[in-house]
Amino acid sequence: MMHLTKQEERVLAGEEGYGRRKAMELVVALGDIYGAKRLIPIASAQVSGASFKTIGDAGIKFLEDFSREAKVSVRATLNPLGLDERRWQSMGIDKGFFDKQARIISAYRSMGVELLYTCTPYLAGNRPKRGQHVAWAESSATVFSNSYLGAMTNREGGPSALAAAVIGKTAEYGLHLDENRLPRIRIDVKEIPDGMIPLVGYLVGKLAGKRVPLVDGLRLSRDEHKSFGAAMAATGAVSMYTFSDSASRSRADTSQVEERITIDGSDVRACADGLRGDDAWDLVAIGCPHCSPSELKSMAKILKNRTPSKESDVWFCTSRRVFASCPKEVAVLRRFGKVLCDTCMVVAPIENWYKHTASDSGKAMVYLPTLGKQKASFRPTSQLLEAISR
Ligand code: F3S
Repeated sequence: MMHLTKQEERVLAGEEGYGRRKAMELVVALGDIYGAKRLIPIASAQVSGASFKTIGDAGIKFLEDFSREAKVSVRATLNPLGLDERRWQSMGIDKGFFDKQARIISAYRSMGVELLYTCTPYLAGNRPKRGQHVAWAESSATVFSNSYLGAMTNREGGPSALAAAVIGKTAEYGLHLDENRLPRIRIDVKEIPDGMIPLVGYLVGKLAGKRVPLVDGLRLSRDEHKSFGAAMAATGAVSMYTFSDSASRSRADTSQVEERITIDGSDVRACADGLRGDDAWDLVAIGCPHCSPSELKSMAKILKNRTPSKESDVWFCTSRRVFASCPKEVAVLRRFGKVLCDTCMVVAPIENWYKHTASDSGKAMVYLPTLGKQKASFRPTSQLLEAISR
């Protein structure tokens, strides 16, 4: 059983209200299951479970009940919704879906959650520092936070991240402990064919499973780490990897590495062939995880002097903050399709409008066929931009 301070005991006894008691119960239950010894303060939370499509009526009921009594006590930011808050009608969202989504937003607002609606909170102002403990849900953000930023978080679920935000603490287990951040498998990446970094992540996730991989041979930009880690967290239960210039302190310690595997160019090309599908898509979706300013800029630069091919619909998904910071680029991209904020191709009800989606995201290749009921085809970004323009 975990040791609780007197103040934590008071919260658990309900002396600080029902909402804090329920939150404490959830965090303590998780701590007991995973053998935590104590609670530790967190700097922030990232809360998932914001789209009506993914949480349904049961999720609304939970949030509305909980929000009557609970308020967050640390910075907490919110994952994407099932719609673009300002352009939902042009997406084809019906009023029934909008109304349910509005109730979810209202519950989170009343709890004090910051309504960023993005899976890349670290590009929109919520960027934890190296060594800080946080409680982040959203697997792509969790793996980025642990691996690239060097912060420390488990892969929380929506309710546990919210509960941690309410009490401002989480249980100290898993990736909050240095010993669990050591790599257990070493993966040597020999070649990354053009545009296929997400597929390397896709393969690493499959090989690593639940283990922290040490990935050697990577020289990636921040944005490349974003898509690499997201794919890895989708195909495996990976919440952290280490690499040569990792912010993580565990990079140098290979004492726990039990297996060594090589990924070469032919492995990546075989993976690409398996995810290729055909060209008969009705939607091209870019921005999983949400596009960064530099990604919007580089796509706009390529498309600036081209004309739309109009052979399929196109979605560029990003956060409202990034959208606002790139007005010129957004204007260029809008000639080719919709630039959507607050949502994405997986958590929006895409199945109502499309059957076959092409994307440059390894994570989307996992979730489009399941949550999105799509036939999914992987193409590198450059090939998608080529396909949507002349
Ligand atoms: Fe983000 Fe949606 Fe992909 S939440 S990581 S864009 S599935």
